[in-house]
Amino acid sequence: MDRREFTKASLGAASLAALGPVIAAPEHIIQKAIPSSGELVPIIGLGTSRYGVAESEASRAPLRAALARFHQLGGTLIDTAPQYRTSETVLGDLIADLGIRNDLFIATKTDKSSAPATDAQMRDSARKLKATKIDLMQVHNLRGWKTALPVMREWRDEGRIQYVGISTSRARQYEDFEVVMRNQELDFIQINYSLEQREAADRILPLAADRGIAVIINRAFGGGRIFDAVGDKPLPGWAQDFGCSSWAQFLLKFACGHPAATLAIPGMTKLHHVEDNFGAARGRLPDEEERKQQEAFYDSL
Ligand SMILES: NC(=O)c1ccc[n+]([C@@H]2O[C@H](COP(=O)([O-])OP(=O)(O)OC[C@H]3O[C@@H](n4cnc5c(N)ncnc54)[C@H](OP(=O)(O)O)[C@@H]3O)[C@@H](O)[C@H]2O)c1
Repeated sequence: MDRREFTKASLGAASLAALGPVIAAPEHIIQKAIPSSGELVPIIGLGTSRYGVAESEASRAPLRAALARFHQLGGTLIDTAPQYRTSETVLGDLIADLGIRNDLFIATKTDKSSAPATDAQMRDSARKLKATKIDLMQVHNLRGWKTALPVMREWRDEGRIQYVGISTSRARQYEDFEVVMRNQELDFIQINYSLEQREAADRILPLAADRGIAVIINRAFGGGRIFDAVGDKPLPGWAQDFGCSSWAQFLLKFACGHPAATLAIPGMTKLHHVEDNFGAARGRLPDEEERKQQEAFYDSL
């Protein structure tokens, strides 16, 4: 049974909507529903901007191990892009090696400014990823969105893409991002949101909730910078109330705890980071008061 058959067989979209956004999977991994379909996704996905490595086995073996563990722990959504050097090719090869394509939700992006170039780029991505269907296609940093979105919708109507979205990680794009969110029909947005950079919560995340758009959170660790900033400072004792035993879990639970967030996609090339980050998908997420406490604690450091 693959990812989608499991979701359908276990619950069905109508009953999912009735259950609300957060439910526990049989493996006790927290999942949330994609508003436009009711399909469930685990709240921890995989960011792969550092998967663009060489072809050598020495470069690829650690990534294969991280990917295998991600799959074993119940992870499904993997985010990549043509911009991430050889990442799509590496993922296509590793996923085929591991034989796990049917269990995964693959998201990639476009960044071309004409319809034929977008079409050609998406064909190229599908070939590299060895995927007859791409689960989610996103316009990367809004580049060429006016011409790209209609081509993506054509692909979606033909069954070659499941969901359509846009991405950014830059606050200076938020104004334009909001306009596209208001005026286009989107299944997903992807945006940066962390204890360090919370601007998305001002307008974009509430708008996504209003419009029924799924939200992928990128850069929940500020690209790793937050770990340098917090150093070896201990977590507060109350972080254990919602199941945090590491800074990574504290940061991921904060991001995924936002009611509009569907999942986060921490970049992880190391197996022990996959293990650590999946801890954030267990137990429960912080409530509104606890998230305010997290913000105050982070600001006091
Ligand atoms: N505009 C866009 O569309 C856009 C922009 C930015 C990012 N993204 C997507 O979002 C993903 C995430 O962003 P990001 O990778 O730049 O930043 P990030 O997730 O904030 O941080 C990734 C860094 O944190 C490290 N890390 C991961 N888990 C850790 C743990 N448990 N403890 C300590 N360190 C840990 C990683 O190390 P290792 O790699 O060594 O495991 C890596 O150096 C990207 O991979 C990409 O898929 C999209």
